[in-house]
Amino acid sequence: PIRIAALASGRGSNLQAILDAIAAGTLDAQVVGVFSDNPDAPALLRVPEALRWARTPKSYGSRAAFDAALGDAIATAAPDWIVCAGYMRILGPDFVQRFQGRLLNIHPALLPKYKGLHTHQRALDAGDSEHGASVHFVTAELDGGPVIAQARVPVLPGDDADRLAARVLAVEHPLLVGVLRLAAAGRLAERDGRAWVDGQPLFTPL
Ligand code: GAR
Repeated sequence: PIRIAALASGRGSNLQAILDAIAAGTLDAQVVGVFSDNPDAPALLRVPEALRWARTPKSYGSRAAFDAALGDAIATAAPDWIVCAGYMRILGPDFVQRFQGRLLNIHPALLPKYKGLHTHQRALDAGDSEHGASVHFVTAELDGGPVIAQARVPVLPGDDADRLAARVLAVEHPLLVGVLRLAAAGRLAERDGRAWVDGQPLFTPL
């Protein structure tokens, strides 16, 4: 089984989807740690205490210092893949470089649209008829790394940001697990700024 480290800042439903797939035998993996910038994150409670690491960034002198401590803790867990599953803090370039090629993020938008925050409200404000989520390799550019897979949902009459977020979240879970299945099968790689599956480069929208 591949060793997965998860980074999470909040609720952790994506982490739970990973744990459920492992328990169901549909993902050949092991979660070796959950790492958080929020000691109160409910996500932490989804794994045994021994697998939890949480620190408050404010108690570190700089982003680089926090990232270094986070990176050291992750390295100690010796993961094959590191997954940002609702991790809401920007990762600095040193951290990204340290884990590049095995660092994934799930983002609640159809990238390259709506990088950053408030993606659901922005999709509504733009009058989009479609919205969704993307899993991508993390690079130093925020939400700008090569996309591996996306899932789409319709925007429906009467939607507000919460209703739309719930519809997107429901497709995030199988999307993230599906990408991790590719990783577990040794079929996923990042090279030359692109995502590759089965040795074929995937199209990445500019
Ligand atoms: C998910 O919608 C995820 O895509 C998003 O936060 C939510 C976390 O939910 N991530 C980001 O916005 C990253 N910038 P969860 O804690 O229940 O998995």
